[in-house]
Amino acid sequence: MNNNPTTFSDEQDPVLKDLLARPLRDLRISLTDQCNLRCTYCMPAEIFDQDHAYLQKDQLIRLEELERLIGAFVRCGVRKIRLTGGEPLLRRGMVEFLGCLKKFSEIEDLALTTNGLLLPTFASGLAEAGLHRVTVSLDALDPDIFARMNGRGKHPDQVLNGIEAAKSAGLRVKVNMVVQRGVNDSQVLPMALHFKAAGIPLRFIEFMDVGNHNHWDSGMVVSGEEILTRLAAETTFEAVPPAHFGEVANRFRYMDDGVEFGIITSISAPFCRSCTRARLSADGKLFTCLFASKGHDLLGAMRAGNPDDEALYQMVAALWRTRDDRYSELRSAVGINTPTKVEMSFIGG
Ligand code: GTP
Ligand code: 5AD
Ligand code: SF4
Ligand code: SF4
Repeated sequence: MNNNPTTFSDEQDPVLKDLLARPLRDLRISLTDQCNLRCTYCMPAEIFDQDHAYLQKDQLIRLEELERLIGAFVRCGVRKIRLTGGEPLLRRGMVEFLGCLKKFSEIEDLALTTNGLLLPTFASGLAEAGLHRVTVSLDALDPDIFARMNGRGKHPDQVLNGIEAAKSAGLRVKVNMVVQRGVNDSQVLPMALHFKAAGIPLRFIEFMDVGNHNHWDSGMVVSGEEILTRLAAETTFEAVPPAHFGEVANRFRYMDDGVEFGIITSISAPFCRSCTRARLSADGKLFTCLFASKGHDLLGAMRAGNPDDEALYQMVAALWRTRDDRYSELRSAVGINTPTKVEMSFIGG
């Protein structure tokens, strides 16, 4: 089984680097700020079902505008694209849009982050359109815990059916679990054993202080170290070397069957030094950090000034050259906290 992301062939390319010498490799595109779940750590219902201002239709980047912007990002060095949301499968026309990305032969890795609920409907179309793989979010196998966490009373079987649909369509699958102490940490071992048996890489994610409404508290973070200790009580595993520069997850392999899992330690061991990621919101703003409070309005500039492809490329390249973000590192070092952060459902997980 090979679920590893592609190794970047030209990772030493010195052309475009930010102020901390990081290349631009990974573009995460939010296709919509809407979601059919209300995960308590991301879009708590008491906020997002009330007076939250979602994007209006005319604010959304049109898919042909997005295609042009992607061309500029690819020229800047992007080789991996991840479509996210909110829930990206809610964006009308996204399967056809995926098909249009085939013309960017430079893209080595095309992935989708989803909660899995709509995969039974879309998985085969996505695979035919050229998607390589999906990352499905699932935080618990216990129906009560999962129903509470997803804020819409959904059963884990609905997500597991989505995972099956993706596998049947030939898509590679990973699963992401955000671990919160006292909420779903009892699910670490059951989830590990379930996905080990299924042969699917599961990644345990430290609960992060993203957004402004998820009641983040450092006491609720279960560190990657603690997760490894818990897993070591029932399984044996070894570390796997990174597949490429800037890999977010620390990967491990169970000794008996070779199935992989990962930990994502953005709180206990930040990885800003190798952060090659740019994020594009569904209204066409470029965020150079997950914890930024403001984005650069690329769509606004496109609609106002009608720049040609060269000017668009220069605009993106100039923004990347002046980037110096390293929020997670600074948070650990000096305890900074951005006053108003962008919501994760707005710029994608
Ligand atoms: P693979 O390419 O499959 O390894 O996925 P990925 O490394 O792109 O990770 P994924 O998109 O599945 O992200 C998993 C989680 O890691 C996200 O939901 C975030 O919680 C966290 N994460 C991803 N990128 C960043 C980042 O740039 N900064 C921080 N602080 N956390 C991140
Ligand atoms: N902490 C960590 N990860 C989060 N995600 C959303 N909110 C948080 C948070 N507070 C990530 C999860 C989820 C993806 C869509 O976004 O990985 O699977
Ligand atoms: Fe939706 Fe994903 Fe956020 Fe849950 S974590 S509310 S599924 S965008
Ligand atoms: Fe990159 Fe910002 Fe995350 Fe650091 S905190 S890894 S700079 S997105």
